[in-house]
Amino acid sequence: MRSFERILISAAMDSEILDLMEELDQPERLEVAGYTLVLGMIEDKTVAVLKTEIGMVNGTASVAFAADYFKPDLIINLGTAGAHNPQLHVGDVVVASSTASINNYFGDDPEIFTDPLLSSRAASHFNRILSSRYECEELGIPCPMTEYGSGKSMLGCIGSGDIWNKDKEAIDAIREEFGTDAEDMETYAAAHVASRLQIPFLGFRIMSNSEVLGEAYKPETGSYCQSLCLSLLENIDTIL
Ligand code: 5AD
Repeated sequence: MRSFERILISAAMDSEILDLMEELDQPERLEVAGYTLVLGMIEDKTVAVLKTEIGMVNGTASVAFAADYFKPDLIINLGTAGAHNPQLHVGDVVVASSTASINNYFGDDPEIFTDPLLSSRAASHFNRILSSRYECEELGIPCPMTEYGSGKSMLGCIGSGDIWNKDKEAIDAIREEFGTDAEDMETYAAAHVASRLQIPFLGFRIMSNSEVLGEAYKPETGSYCQSLCLSLLENIDTIL
């Protein structure tokens, strides 16, 4: 059984991270490269809670700087996402068994993209699908969704890019190309940094909206996801 002692927890927006910052005992607030990082204790763990801010560039830079500063033995990235998989409703959770950069999706309209390098097939060639370091099944899908609603959780592929897709056809095309179950703007970035630094990574996202099912954005899902993270921290050494 592996024990984690220094955990970096990251999410993009106040609605996805402030509850966790407030849970820290003996908090020490600092800025790393302009990003807010709060160090402290949760249970017997030394934890650093990072607000990455939105998007792939912020996700990459902030997690890289924070990891270099804090030297975590586990990086967690969480927050809200939009559902691609029609089985997922607002409030459901995807635990990332893989993550893909969907910034590389250009579509395959020959009128627009005549250069084969920019066609979607070629673009996907540059796209690295990361496997999470731990078999997420081993998490036992501990998501205690029943405690705060009727949501469910699943393992799946989270696609990340600097876009909020609203068009159902575009979402279906990306799902077809990359096998995505949900989309956000940072999971891939954080996983990429973790992979480069060879630090175990765990990503999970709660669905805050589903353009596919026509379910509107629900910002309070950000808090639900943080509750999930807290319960995960209680069990993390027995689960992973
Ligand atoms: N598409 C893209 N990003 C989303 N987010 C929530 N839902 C979506 C969606 N449908 C998250 C992103 C970003 C913030 C705007 O919300 O990760 O941080």
